[in-house]
Amino acid sequence: MAGKTTFTMIKPSAFASNYTGGILKMINDAGFVIKALKATCLTKEQAGAFYAVHQGKPFYDSLVKFMSSGPIVAAMLEKDNAVEDFRTLIGATNPANAAEGTIRKLYAVSLEENAVHGSDSDENANIEADFFFSKIERV
Ligand code: CDP
Ligand code: MG
Repeated sequence: MAGKTTFTMIKPSAFASNYTGGILKMINDAGFVIKALKATCLTKEQAGAFYAVHQGKPFYDSLVKFMSSGPIVAAMLEKDNAVEDFRTLIGATNPANAAEGTIRKLYAVSLEENAVHGSDSDENANIEADFFFSKIERV
């Protein structure tokens, strides 16, 4: 059975462009409930650890540099079928392939600076939420 939790980050480019409010509104309008939320900055080490699964890939070093280049917003979200429905809401990784009306279609500027992160499985959603939020930071 699909889980009710997913995790997202608003990436530095989208945060710097002041898209946070618009993105959070799209998330709420799609039926997700925000269960934890924070703005913070990642060190290179923290960004590298978050994206450790991509270590060794050609885009990893640039991605880590980008993700530690400025503030991000992290959020834990709740909805039935959360992971899959959120991936649908954000659209394809490459915004050139993202469907009309998706967050990435609206707010991404490139494949790397694609506005938001979305968990790819229930297991990773929980790992990623644990990476950012302690028990008392969740409602
Ligand atoms: O974020 P998503 O799960 O859709 O894609 P991913 O394959 O897990 O890649 C993680 C992130 O790395 C992407 O969101 C992009 O920011 C970046 N990326 C990149 O810069 N170039 C690629 N060829 C693939 C991913
Ligand atoms: Mg991914």
